[in-house]
Amino acid sequence: MRLSTLGRWIGREGDRERPLRRRAEAVLAQPWAPFLWNNEQLRDVMPWYFVRGEGARLWDENGREFIDLELGLGCTLLGHNHPVVREALLQHAGQPIVTSLLHRHEVEVAELLTSLFPSAERVVFGKNGSDACTAAARVARAATGRNFILCHGFHGFHDWFAADMGTLPGMVPSFAGYTKQFLPFNDVAAVEALADEHSQDLAAIMMEPAYRHLPQEGYLQAVRRIADKHGALLIFDEMITAFRMHRGGAQTVYGVTPDLTCVGKSLANGLPLSALMGRKDVMQYVNKIFYGMTFQHDSVALAVSRACLQYYRDHDVAGDVNRKGEKLRQIFNDASAAAGLTGRGVGLAARMDLDFTPVGHLGLHEQRQIFARETIKHGVLPVRVALPCEMLTDADLEKIQEAFTYGCRQVARSLPRR
Ligand SMILES: Cc1ncc(COP(=O)(O)O)c(C=O)c1O
Repeated sequence: MRLSTLGRWIGREGDRERPLRRRAEAVLAQPWAPFLWNNEQLRDVMPWYFVRGEGARLWDENGREFIDLELGLGCTLLGHNHPVVREALLQHAGQPIVTSLLHRHEVEVAELLTSLFPSAERVVFGKNGSDACTAAARVARAATGRNFILCHGFHGFHDWFAADMGTLPGMVPSFAGYTKQFLPFNDVAAVEALADEHSQDLAAIMMEPAYRHLPQEGYLQAVRRIADKHGALLIFDEMITAFRMHRGGAQTVYGVTPDLTCVGKSLANGLPLSALMGRKDVMQYVNKIFYGMTFQHDSVALAVSRACLQYYRDHDVAGDVNRKGEKLRQIFNDASAAAGLTGRGVGLAARMDLDFTPVGHLGLHEQRQIFARETIKHGVLPVRVALPCEMLTDADLEKIQEAFTYGCRQVARSLPRR
């Protein structure tokens, strides 16, 4: 056997993930992490399974170490295996998980949320962000007796929202036409025009108050006034901004109080928990819209959430994570400039898009793909967005700098010569 063939053979034999991938493909409909389902090109370089995680680091089946900058679609704000989460899990071990009764933690988590978020007078829990957003939409429709919802951003995979995301197999066509995205962000006249057009049937304006675009001064206040003028509710989807931007969400930072707020993701640092919260008079509709699910009162997620919220209350986690995010932004911007590119880290420092300017046939997507492939090979996952966690260290940032420098160089090499 030639040496190179032998090397490849040894490599394959030693690859512990390969047989697991084969087993997975035989039984799982989605055998890979979420961002790989519509990104076939990264499936070969990206590990599919982790065996261990600590802070920002993950280890795969082959013992390779990676820095996780995606953190489970952004839910792991503190980091993997954070002592606060570990301790809460250990303390709760041995207690029933879901029973015929509720656990006192449910009250305590709701108390913490009402003390942190200006809009929260009443709270109801769910398992996913999509649950909270769907409940918000139904509550708004029930409270106003209207149907139409103006949206900005992503509000989950449920039919009320997904119906207007283009032609989706499996969608009842008549569900479409009850929501519309208002664009561009920060354009008051654009929201106003759509609100005027749908005034009679406008139940709510639902929006992500910030992330890729930060609101300009007065913008959220203007949207609040537009909602009031039309008798519609204002809903903030704070799935990303809650805890990551500020412990009290974007509503605290910008001083605009919505009628309803949806939170999830970092609410329990990776355990499945979301919440819809809002004005007492509006929240009473939760009991009229048929809202509930088997695992709603799961005491493990609530125990962890209680510990996380106490920690967020007593420590400036968001401040710390945003400072780390600014360092990450600088690293990316510098790596891009050094390679002669104009790439920029865009949006909230704690959740940034890594953008490239299209050049010739290489658009944003193509450049991001090249960048991600190379950075993954250099031990940083995945990378299209960058989400720092509290446990991200200076040593992690050094490794990221090496990977980003290499990634940007490879992008530059692929560009057509000018
Ligand atoms: C702003 C926003 N809203 C809603 C959702 C849906 O949350 P989930 O995936 O937990 O259902 C997401 C998920 O990424 C999100 O980013």
